[in-house]
Amino acid sequence: MAVERTLSIIKPDAVGKNHIGEIYSRFEKAGLKIVAARMKHLTPGEAEGFYAEHSARGFFKDLVSFMTSGPIVVSVLEGENAVLAHRDIMGATDPKKAAPGTIRADFASSIDENAVHGSDSLESAKREIAYFFRTTELCPRTR
Ligand code: PPS
Repeated sequence: MAVERTLSIIKPDAVGKNHIGEIYSRFEKAGLKIVAARMKHLTPGEAEGFYAEHSARGFFKDLVSFMTSGPIVVSVLEGENAVLAHRDIMGATDPKKAAPGTIRADFASSIDENAVHGSDSLESAKREIAYFFRTTELCPRTR
């Protein structure tokens, strides 16, 4: 088993509904450790840059509008197979297809407002972590 790091975003809908603590609790219960965290309100330019790979998709404008509609909580999670473990806890992108007990099944209202984001691969995780955090802001967990 490899120890990995992945990027987590608690999106504006879940922050607005006061679900930050419950979502963090699920990460911690699954053995994922928070090694960096920040609340921020994305600018349109920051959201467009983060989701650049989806810029040609029909939903891109709405996605940027949603992601800038309120504060988000951006975190780096560390643990064994963190990328996949985090995606399992989140559930499918569309909450209607998300397995019972996952974050999106419990807290998301639609595919457009789906509560959380998680890196989809180790390669994406490295790029996404660097998008929000400097290396010196990541706090190794020794205890
Ligand atoms: S897809 O359809 O498999 O390419 O979707 P995915 O790569 O998993 O994620 C696309 C991100 O855009 C958000 N989003 C939507 N996806 C699909 N359809 C609609 N209508 C839509 N609206 C928004 C979706 O939540 C994904 O965001 P992240 O933050 O990566 O979860």
